[in-house]
Amino acid sequence: MEDEKIIAPVESAEPNEAAQPVEAAEPEKVITPAEEPLVPVQYDPQYILMVNGLKKHFPIKGGMFSKTVGYVKAVDGVTFNLKRGTTMGLVGESGCGKTTTGRVILRLSGEKTAGQVLFNGQEVYDLSPKEMRPLRTKMQIIFQDPFSSLSPRLPVGEIIGEAVREHNLVSKEDFNDYIDQVMDNCGLQPFHKDRYPHEFSGGQRQRICIARALALNPEFVVCDEPVSALDVSIQAQIINLLADLQDKYKLTYLFISHDLSVVEHISDTVGVMYLGNLVEYGSTEDIFRNPLHPYTKALFSAIPVPDPTVKMKRIVLEGSIPSPANPPSGCKFHTRCEHCTQRCKEEVPQQREIEPGHYVVCHLYDQ
Ligand SMILES: Nc1ncnc2c1ncn2[C@@H]1O[C@H](COP(=O)(O)OP(=O)(O)O)[C@@H](O)[C@H]1O
Ligand code: SF4
Ligand SMILES: [Mg+2]
Repeated sequence: MEDEKIIAPVESAEPNEAAQPVEAAEPEKVITPAEEPLVPVQYDPQYILMVNGLKKHFPIKGGMFSKTVGYVKAVDGVTFNLKRGTTMGLVGESGCGKTTTGRVILRLSGEKTAGQVLFNGQEVYDLSPKEMRPLRTKMQIIFQDPFSSLSPRLPVGEIIGEAVREHNLVSKEDFNDYIDQVMDNCGLQPFHKDRYPHEFSGGQRQRICIARALALNPEFVVCDEPVSALDVSIQAQIINLLADLQDKYKLTYLFISHDLSVVEHISDTVGVMYLGNLVEYGSTEDIFRNPLHPYTKALFSAIPVPDPTVKMKRIVLEGSIPSPANPPSGCKFHTRCEHCTQRCKEEVPQQREIEPGHYVVCHLYDQ
């Protein structure tokens, strides 16, 4: 079963959070990328995932009649393509929309507000619930907190095998061998099958979550802060396991993390998110060697340098991250940027390609 892969978490979609049409820009106003009509992307087979202008706005309810009084713009126009068998790291401060991006790509968060999500060329949101079922096994998610995502009442073998059975992925005769093999691939022993999640350490529980995902034979896995809750000594083991499984099964990962050294280690490309938008995107090497956006520079200046003789200028970001319900005008980063000009306050910057495959959204790079 070497070439066979693993299972998917079964998630129910939340009730539709009112997808709100985006208002057309008035002609005399500066046209911003957020307001431009979406130019649809054409499928390019080298990409397993193509995300184009993706938005997810959560309604804010208020008043006696629970009317919608505003929107939290958690994801506000995210565009990137992900090559098969590669890993894209997604970084940014807490609350910038990383988890929502991952969940919306997997269609785990009701309807999207706008944009495209093409998985192997298929718009995920065009599929009926019946058509979604087989796709659910192909797109998996691993969460930060392995404990809360594992049912405490089920033995581990059941947790890993539940969805395999539900999706009829292997015959009854092969089922036990299949689960043993998946567990072995994830560093778990056959006797672990009859134990319960609380009997395991944090690192082993994350192995169980990975095994549950892998058992569905996925092509694409969103790893949402998969090692953030683990001891540092265990983190490397789990990262190495994810890397090994990627090689073995040609998996594609969207790896969400606020730990830049982990992201540098595991990712081929990196996207930097701020208040619902990607402000910079490129190969890991380009982003770490030559960060362009003032926000990326500030984030990266906080990475500890192993050589004590090298002095790094730490850029301290003033103020806290603004509310995604009421983001600043123009460039959303302008309230915290040391290079802010009047133009930054008024005009939304466009995405520019500065070197091949390296994109930034900032007026400093307009020439
Ligand atoms: N279901 C939801 N309803 C309303 N707001 C939400 C919901 N999920 C996330 N948000 C808000 O969206 C923003 C982005 O959240 P999230 O995607 O979890 O960020 P991150 O993973 O980067 O920390 C936050 O302001 C968060 O409070
Ligand atoms: S557009 Fe202006 S405010 Fe925004 S990051 Fe660039 S320089 Fe700073
Ligand atoms: Mg998150």
